[in-house]
Parts: sequence; structure tokens; C-alpha cells
Amino acid sequence: MPERLGHNEYPAKRFFGRPAERALKSYAMTLSLNIAILAAGQGTRMRSERPKVLHRLAGRPMLSHVVDTARSLGAAKICVVYGHGGEQVPEALAAPDLGFAKQEPQLGTGHAVRQALPHLDPEGITLVLYGDVPLVRTETLRQVAQAGRDGLAILTARLADPSGYGRIARDDAGEIRAIVEEKDASAEQRAITEVNTGILAAPTRRLAAWLERVTDANAQREYYLTDVVALAIADGVAVAGVEAAEAWEVLGVNSQSQLAVLERHYQARAARRLMDQGVSLADPARLDVRGELRCGRDVFIDVNCVFEGRVTLGDGVAVGANCVLRDVEVAANTRVFPFSHLEDAQIGADCRIGPYARIRPGTALGRDVHIGNFVEVKNSRLAEGSKANHLAYVGDATVGRRVNIGAGTITCNYDGAHKHRTVIEDDAFIGSDTQLVAPVTVGRGATLGAGTTLTKDAPPDALTVSRAKQVTVSGWRRPRKSDPNEK
Ligand code: UD1
Ligand code: CA
Repeated sequence: MPERLGHNEYPAKRFFGRPAERALKSYAMTLSLNIAILAAGQGTRMRSERPKVLHRLAGRPMLSHVVDTARSLGAAKICVVYGHGGEQVPEALAAPDLGFAKQEPQLGTGHAVRQALPHLDPEGITLVLYGDVPLVRTETLRQVAQAGRDGLAILTARLADPSGYGRIARDDAGEIRAIVEEKDASAEQRAITEVNTGILAAPTRRLAAWLERVTDANAQREYYLTDVVALAIADGVAVAGVEAAEAWEVLGVNSQSQLAVLERHYQARAARRLMDQGVSLADPARLDVRGELRCGRDVFIDVNCVFEGRVTLGDGVAVGANCVLRDVEVAANTRVFPFSHLEDAQIGADCRIGPYARIRPGTALGRDVHIGNFVEVKNSRLAEGSKANHLAYVGDATVGRRVNIGAGTITCNYDGAHKHRTVIEDDAFIGSDTQLVAPVTVGRGATLGAGTTLTKDAPPDALTVSRAKQVTVSGWRRPRKSDPNEK
């Protein structure tokens, strides 16, 4: 068989690798996998202005999950069919490896796949996915794509309640004969519990030929993708049914409450994966991972924590109840106490954060730093052993080692127009209720007396204090309200 070159293949790649690898590569190339993702539907039952597939599952548009799954299959071409909601879908998902085909008007799933065909490789196989079926697993789809190489493969599922789905009609020999849409089904056919998930795969050329022949002669006057089953059978092409191992992976979203059900399935799966890796979860039902959470060994996560973006927790890290961590790296053995909010920050090892701490973007904490209750840190570095334990604002500051920042300390970093930095050198001691009016530097080993408003640099190893002198007025009397009977 002559070796074909896909669009993304450089000729040099032909000579790369050992003969067996080359053979495998050319084989995969001749059967390039193309994926059409249908996402043009209106989603009326979401009762929303936003296109259904842009509603969020685990913090990201549900369509992004499908696109990621398509990528994980190693697809050569991915084409998203969009329509309802203008250009919102391509705008939200734009990526160099994605094609977009507009379907307008939306005349049914068969019509939708036809819009994708010009973007797909006619020599490959095409797998059809749905933007509103976001939990389907890569392993399952691999089986469908495999089975679709020499004929037509459809993914089916057994559902306790099959209502709303197309039913799989099989003959006495158990072979698939047709998919019957609920609206077109007889009472007998409606009793069938094996349903069409809508996901199917076939050689692209064949699929295109069948779709040419599909008509809209049905109850909904739509071009049904499912009609390709009858056409395949008429052509004497085998129709293989692949049954999904888990019913939840083929669930679609038509309403907000279905989306919420899928969210819990997604989170349950995320929690199971973490526990399989050895993470201790106080309650797997009260964890939300909206992104990627990587954990070292012996990590403990208490209830109601939310992890967004990319979060890494090192060995032995413990996260207390009700914490939100977004794009954060936490090094080994650090403890984050309850009700803390950490965003876009790097936290060193052996730190103690919270309870009620707020760590904002651009923060980097060294080893053994303590950030206590009602302390806000923004765009600041605190080196090893420094502490801000109570009620403070540390913004745009560079703090050395073993610095003690007293309760109520505030870096006055903003003059109304510009931000300025505060520098606090090693071993400085900042007395309580101090304002550091930036730009300002506190020298190494300096002490600031409580209540100081620092407007000029404090020299090292000295006490600096700005404070009105304390006076006592003896014999002074506090005013009293006069007695109304008094004359
Ligand atoms: C479809 C299947 C049905 C299956 C069910 C699974 C057909 C004819 N029926 O029915 O057998 O059990 O899915 O959920 O295929 N879409 C477009 N353009 C269109 C129409 C639909 O992109 O013109 C997209 C929708 O956005 C949606 C998906 O295709 O994501 C399914 O469309 P929908 O109208 O919901 O099909 P069902 O009636 O549910
Ligand atoms: Ca549907």
C-alpha cells in the first residue's frame, strides 16, 4: 500500500524511526481519525441566551471537554458544527487545531454532519460526537472508532428510562436493523431500553455517500443522522453496536438540572481518581475540581474545597475546610487552614496559611512562612520564616527572612495613580498598626514601634517610631450630660 502523507506530515518523518514504528505510523495515517462535534442546537430548555454547549461543566464550557476528549483520541481533524448563538462558539473555543462549520438553518443531525464533511479527510474515518454529551470516555470512543473502520459502528447504552432517545431495533439474530426515533416509534418499540447515544463512526467516504441519500421524510421533517443505519444495512455493510460500559458517560445535557447531575458525575470521577492516587478526602461528595489538581503523597483535603485552574499540592499538604485555591502551587507539608482563598501564587514548604487568609496573584512565599487570619497578601514575596499572623495588608512588598509583621500592619502601596513597593529586609520587626507608605524600605534588623506611619526609610538595627508624645492631663473631667432638673 503506498504511504500517504497527511497535511501535517513532513516528508522527513517518513525516514524517522525503526521499520516497525514506520509501518505503524503509515497504517495510522491511512486511517486518519476525523471527528465532527455537533453543537449547533439551540438548547431551548436551558432557558438561557448562551449557547447550550458553552454552559460550564467543572468550570469550563461543556464543549471544551468534548474537544479535549477528541484531542486525546489523536484526531487528525476536528470540526465543530455550530449554529445557534452567532459566533459565540467559535470565539470561545478558537484553537489552531479546530475547524468550525456553521450550520444555518439547523435541519437535523444528518444535515449537521454534512456541514462538517468538507473539513474532514475523505480517506479517513469519521467519529461523530456531541457538544452536549461531555462525559464520554476516551476508552469507549476508541472502541467505537476501531469498530467503525470497516463499517458503521454506533455507541449504544442501556437506560432504565429510555424516553427521549432513539431506540435500537434488532432482529431475531440480534443484529441491529434500525434506529427508531421516539417520535416515530410504535408502543412496542418504545419499550426497548437499548438506546442510541448518537455517537457513531464510519469511513468518511461511506458516511458522506449515505448522508447524500438521507431525506427529511419523518415526524420532525429533519435530516436524521440515524437514517444512515438503514442505508448501511441496505448496502450490506455491517452495523456494529458498542455498548457503553457506564450509562452516565453518554448522558446528554438538555436542561440546567441535567447539567447539575453531570457535574456531580464529573466530580465523583475526579474524587475517585484522587483517592486512587492516595489522596485523603474528608468527603468525596464535597469536593469540586474545576481544572487540574495534582497531588503528592499523603495529601489531605477537608470538605467543601474548590480547586480551579492548575493546582499542585506537594507531599503532606493539608487543606482545611472551605478553601478555594486557583492556579496555586503549594509545597510539601504546608497547611492551609479553613476559609482561605489563594489565587495565582506559590506557597513554600512548611507554611501555615489561614484560617481566613487571602493570598492574591503574584505572591510567592518561602519556606515556613505564616500568614494568619484576615491577612491579605498581594504581589509580594515573603522569604523563609517570616510571619504576618493577624489583620494585615501586604501588597507590592518584598519581605526578607524572619520578619515579623505585627497585627494591623498596612503597606500603603497605592497613591491613587501608581503602585509603589515596600521593602522589608531580613529580621525586621514591624510593630502593630504600622502604615508603610511606599516606596519605603525598612533596613535589616530594624524595629518599627507600634502605630508608626513610616514615610521615610527606616535605618537598619535601630528603633524607628513616629508617634505623638503621650501626655496625661491630671484633674481633667469627662463632660457629663446635665441633669434636666438642674437650674
Ligand atoms: C438524537 C438522535 C437520537 C439519540 C439522541 C441522543 C437523531 C435523529 N436522533 O436525538 O437517536 O437517542 O440524539 O441524545 O440523530 N444538532 C445540530 N444540528 C441540528 C440538530 C442537532 O448540531 O440540526 C446537535 C444538537 O446541538 C445536539 C445533538 O445534535 O447536540 C442532538 O440533537 P437533538 O436534536 O437533541 O437530537 P435528539 O432529538 O436528542
Ligand atoms: Ca438531545
